[in-house]
Amino acid sequence: MMHPPQPSALPATRQLAPDGRLRHFLTLEGLGAELLREILAVSESFMAVAAQPVKKVPLLRGKTIFNLFFEPSTRTRTTFELAAKRLSADVMNMNISASATRKGESLLDTLRNLEAMHSDMFVVRHAESGAAQLIARHVAPHISVINAGDGRHAHPTQAMLDVFTIQRNKGDVRDLRIAIVGDILHSRVARSQIHALNILHAGEVRVVAPKTLLPTDVEQLGVHIHHDMTSGLRDVDVVIMLRLQKERMSGALLPSEHEFYRLYGLTEERLAVAHPEAIVMHPGPVNRGVEIASEVADGPRSVILEQVSNGLAVRMAIMSMCLGARPGGAA
Ligand code: NCD
Repeated sequence: MMHPPQPSALPATRQLAPDGRLRHFLTLEGLGAELLREILAVSESFMAVAAQPVKKVPLLRGKTIFNLFFEPSTRTRTTFELAAKRLSADVMNMNISASATRKGESLLDTLRNLEAMHSDMFVVRHAESGAAQLIARHVAPHISVINAGDGRHAHPTQAMLDVFTIQRNKGDVRDLRIAIVGDILHSRVARSQIHALNILHAGEVRVVAPKTLLPTDVEQLGVHIHHDMTSGLRDVDVVIMLRLQKERMSGALLPSEHEFYRLYGLTEERLAVAHPEAIVMHPGPVNRGVEIASEVADGPRSVILEQVSNGLAVRMAIMSMCLGARPGGAA
């Protein structure tokens, strides 16, 4: 079986411009705590926009953004589109698998054509790890690239919206115990969350999964490893459930979905060992009865829909920072 390259083997594309500002947003690896805190602070200032009768600011007026989605997505694509519109940018959605590449045009030719339409930003989702980096290495110097999920490598805007949601509900991550549960092996979300939480010095980060759903380099990620839910969830402040990524699984990594749910599914009963005020998160899409019980997903501890709302503000922050525009400042 072909394994995608490990993150450390991916080409390092400079994400920061020479003046230190964010140019691309491809991975959290290598970014500093100060920049992450700035993203969180700018996101907070965008939360107010959603509460206004006119949910729009002119920060990216005149900018052209292409959503390049080579892999299906609903909430990520929609929230990027809405975030761009709330910043007054012109946004185009390209479902690439259904367009030019099917006719044999190469990816770089497609990019050159989009550049010729005076684009300023590409938001990229791709099934291959490293795809966003590759595109970032080939775009014209004024274009920013945001990684909206590449293979099982990274999903940095999701991780930032998750940290933002944790912070709004539970305060500083330095004081928290956080458990990430389920299919860590195939999860770009888990990798990016772990990087973000480590950069921000989270109190304790645990991964809870069967051995078959953990990456071989898990030990190097600086997390505590648990194979059972009772020890993994004990006293945690935050439980992050992950979707079983069946489309990325090859071979028998799992006995059955039923067996997985029996051992790792988040039920009210399982959640009882966590801190009484623990919150429950999930990046979506949720497989009810596979990784989480409906009563928990829809229950009082769940902040799953809040993650979606917060995603708008966080994506607005990252898009405007990459294009050099700040709320309250000149573009
Ligand atoms: C995640 C993704 O696509 O990586 N979903 C998302 O962005 N909302 C997680 C998943 O698909 O399980």
